Amino acid sequence: MKIDGKHRRTIWVEPDGWAVGIIDQTLLPFDFATRRIETVEAMAEAIRAMRVRGAPLIGAAAAYGLALAMREDPGDRALESARARLASTRPTAINLRWALDRMVEVLMITPPDERLKRAYAEAADIADEDVEVCRAIGRHGLDLIRAIHQRNPGRPVEVLTHCNAGWLATVDWGTATAPIYMAHDAGIPIHVWVDETRPRNQGAFLTAWELGSHGVPHTVIVDNAGGHLMQRGQVDLCIVGTDRVTARGDVANKIGTYLKALAARDTGVPFWVALPSSTIDWTLEDGLRDIPIEQRGPEEVAEIAGRTEAGTIERVQLVPDASAVANVAFDVTPARLVTGFVTERGLCAASFEGLSGLFPDQVERAVKRAAANDA
Ligand code: MRU
Repeated sequence: MKIDGKHRRTIWVEPDGWAVGIIDQTLLPFDFATRRIETVEAMAEAIRAMRVRGAPLIGAAAAYGLALAMREDPGDRALESARARLASTRPTAINLRWALDRMVEVLMITPPDERLKRAYAEAADIADEDVEVCRAIGRHGLDLIRAIHQRNPGRPVEVLTHCNAGWLATVDWGTATAPIYMAHDAGIPIHVWVDETRPRNQGAFLTAWELGSHGVPHTVIVDNAGGHLMQRGQVDLCIVGTDRVTARGDVANKIGTYLKALAARDTGVPFWVALPSSTIDWTLEDGLRDIPIEQRGPEEVAEIAGRTEAGTIERVQLVPDASAVANVAFDVTPARLVTGFVTERGLCAASFEGLSGLFPDQVERAVKRAAANDA
């Protein structure tokens, strides 16, 4: 997407051909700064601290992290320890493990002295593919938005989204936002309700910044407002991203997603989830029982950062000194509450039949891998 007229991705190789550039998302929306990542340890820190975040982007970042590790030592043990270090950064988004598995699979059949070059090439493929996959998600999701517009040509299509499943969460385009950008670019009037998404405010800080930079009309709302807007008929569809979808269609996404899905079901608002197929975990069925849920530090809930009138960025305390604080970062929306999935291969039902109908090749691969692991 464009920032100040310049096309940018969220991750790239620097002109020296080896260091990796990222946008430091912890500084947005008040400051736009890029950061040069030179070691696997620095990449692990960037993922853990959420300088890069969003399921598809942390997959691409981890892939480049392994490439950086190959600069330090291309041997088998170093490869395994770099994979473990990167995999330990964030537990819920399956794209992280998906990208690491893909990299390791390729590197293990590559002689050590050729691994460095191969690692950068594979990481670049993962990043490039993510752009094309998100573009395809956008095209399929655009059909949903266009259909709503055709039924109500006299007013904007009203979309509600949670967290940031925008281009900042991927390499480009975003998942949930790709259809929104495409609709806007196609001249379909569209307005987005942006959940602020406490505690880290990815909606207020990142989605609002992205949409604003692209000229998409939007309004930031507190996380609890969505149900009210749906009751009043002010939302045509919800569209969110996801960090992991199980084989039967349960959806892990940023905390608060489940409550939006409940409200959407109660009010008859369609609730769509946009995802690349790299977000499907074919090894899991029951999302509530089996998806690991990240618990983050209490300071993210107990404090908030913002810009003061003087223009400085400051953190302030929000809760009493003695109060305990919990920071559950994701929740699971059962498949039954999801209207359907928007994927790179089209729309499908939130069920095993729906997903496997679009991705039979991936089911076959998952079955073979499971058989090989059992042997
Ligand atoms: O904790 P974050 O900011 O990495 O969480 C991001 C989300 O929950 C997104 O909705 C999800 O990763 C989908 S990204 C296209």
